[in-house]
Amino acid sequence: MPGATLSRWTMSYFAAACLFLVIGEGMMVIGYGYPFAGVDAPETLALVHVLAIGWLGLLMVGALLQFVPVLVAAPLRGGRLALPVLLLLVGGLLLLVGGFGALAGVGGLSPGVLPLGALLLVTGFGLAAAMLAATLFAARPLPLPARFVGLGLLALVATVLIGAAFALALSGAVASDLITTLLIHGVPLHAAFGLGGWLTLTAVGVSYRLLPMFMLAPEEARGTSRVVWWAGSAALTLVVVRIAWLVFDASATEEPLALAGLLAAVATILYCADVVRLFRERRRKAVELNIRASYAAFAALLLSVVMFLIPGARAAAGEGAGAIVYLFVFGWLTGLGLAQLYKIVPFLTWLECYGCVLGRAAVPRVQDLVREGHSSLWFCLYYGAVAAATGSLFAGSPLWFRAALLLQLIATLGLAAELVRARMLSSVAEPLRFPVGTPRPHLFLPISRQQE
Ligand code: HEM
Repeated sequence: MPGATLSRWTMSYFAAACLFLVIGEGMMVIGYGYPFAGVDAPETLALVHVLAIGWLGLLMVGALLQFVPVLVAAPLRGGRLALPVLLLLVGGLLLLVGGFGALAGVGGLSPGVLPLGALLLVTGFGLAAAMLAATLFAARPLPLPARFVGLGLLALVATVLIGAAFALALSGAVASDLITTLLIHGVPLHAAFGLGGWLTLTAVGVSYRLLPMFMLAPEEARGTSRVVWWAGSAALTLVVVRIAWLVFDASATEEPLALAGLLAAVATILYCADVVRLFRERRRKAVELNIRASYAAFAALLLSVVMFLIPGARAAAGEGAGAIVYLFVFGWLTGLGLAQLYKIVPFLTWLECYGCVLGRAAVPRVQDLVREGHSSLWFCLYYGAVAAATGSLFAGSPLWFRAALLLQLIATLGLAAELVRARMLSSVAEPLRFPVGTPRPHLFLPISRQQE
């Protein structure tokens, strides 16, 4: 990967992220949070942030620490902050969830930890955004994929600042009309910035680089991709306008949001057209599992965005359009996350272990680090369970939802086990596994300094 070294802490981010995904799915299997509690119940807020910050947030920051230098072919700035950022995000999340637990009546906890959690999260995400923004800024002019990441970082900053304001209001630490107005009207905006801006636009940007790289497809940016960027920026700007308007007039009109929704749909349809085109123009005809699993995620993205725009489907999706948000979070964001992890973990492990002996010893292919047969069964079970869970939410059946979540959790654990096997080179046949000079990979602790 030109201009990039291996990020020391990325595997630790990935391991923590996978742990929070399993915890989040486990919470839903035992009936904690939505749909067993209301969308704005503290139990649901705890569940939402275990998934949005613990799984998707750590996954994305860990991936960006490794791939932003690839996107701009320049070294990461402030790389030594990677560990403090990880500790701040995990510590902040545990305090935030503890604060929601206190609001849910869990004994021994105080809502007073909410602002403390928010402070650690704002500092952690702020430092992460500063590292990545400094790396992008130093590499101007930016290629299109990197510009998407820039947009995603802006949305991240907006998400956490609004979230921190919510935490201050809910804990009672601050009583101000402005923050109360924001809390009453701003939750969908906070969610849109987080799930739509930060996570989705960043994932779109990184995929515009990774998909051509993994499929050997043409990489040059197309007009459609540029329209996706402009439509995404315009949609985010309209959400900012809506918030600014709220500050001055609580009864402000919702039009900006409707227009933002439309722009997001245009961006989604053009993006899906782009990924279909990349698939058709690929030179690597054999389609690896990470690509097949990614295309299921693109289908979930398109379906959830289109359903969100249809008033009838949105109404049928229950409180807060819960069934559609579920498909968006687990079909699109989590599906893409698991599909890319399935390629990135063996890829980085191969680089870490065999990069230093390349040309001096026989080494396995990246493909030899994984078991596609086993993993494709887990991916099928995963997406089947997500579809069943979404269906049970539309049908309003919490019992079937729990059954589907149990299958989803089993599939996730199966995929996690395959990632551990890849990381420990368990599928590589002797004597190819450890040629002389090959370092032993650590499951999730950082690689040794001289490997950097
Ligand atoms: C500093 C970090 C954050 C803090 C302190 C925070 C805080 C909060 C609070 C207090 C609420 C509840 C508002 C209410 O209904 O009373 C909330 C809602 C929400 N937050 Fe965050 N948040 C943060 C980051 C994020 C991120 C990064 C995402 C997504 C990527 C996110 C997604 C959501 C969603 C989806 C809701 C609505 C949940 C629901 O109504 O069920 N938050 N957040």
